[in-house]
Amino acid sequence: MSQPCVLLGVTGSIAAYKSAIIASALMKKGVDVVAVMTASATEFLGPVTLASMTHNPVYTGMFAPAENLTPTHISLRDRADLVCVAPATANCMAKYAGGIADDLLTSTLISVTVPVIFAPAMNSVMWRHPATQANLKTLEERGVTFIGPESGRLVCEDDDIGRLADPEKIVAACLEKLGIS
Ligand SMILES: Cc1cc2nc3c(=O)[nH]c(=O)nc-3n(C[C@H](O)[C@H](O)[C@H](O)COP(=O)(O)O)c2cc1C
Repeated sequence: MSQPCVLLGVTGSIAAYKSAIIASALMKKGVDVVAVMTASATEFLGPVTLASMTHNPVYTGMFAPAENLTPTHISLRDRADLVCVAPATANCMAKYAGGIADDLLTSTLISVTVPVIFAPAMNSVMWRHPATQANLKTLEERGVTFIGPESGRLVCEDDDIGRLADPEKIVAACLEKLGIS
């Protein structure tokens, strides 16, 4: 069997650095990891970090150089066995639930038919907001698997729900979907 490929979506959360831990753990299991970062995510973590760790280019933009005839979101779709968005912002959940495709990550998300995992991270008020909870319900009904968020220490808050799930749990969920033990 060819090497399985996980598209690792990274969005603009303070927890973005943990995507590097997730990428590294998946690589150790023989998974090809291709990172797609939103513009906001690149404010939190440099693409070069994920490129070095994954040994793959990191995709941050919708529009590929002119010599590439296939749009990037289509070539990524064709490569992916699984999409894992970790951390996933409230904004990304809202866009995916609404079918919005205004950047590379959201365009790829609505182009894939492979399993999708979301690992949200946000403050507790954002998580409990009725809009976020409605988006969660919509996405779960469409088959998206949610890992977390967990309760624990949050930036600017006391202990509450909203922390990114333990990277080990996110990696385990990816491996299970890929059938890797
Ligand atoms: C310091 C800082 C931390 C943030 N952390 C989060 C977060 O953990 N979760 C979240 O949903 N939004 C967070 N945001 C807000 C998002 O970055 C913002 O909604 C952005 O538009 C998300 O874009 P994206 O979904 O395209 O990555 C944070 C913003 C700042 C300035």
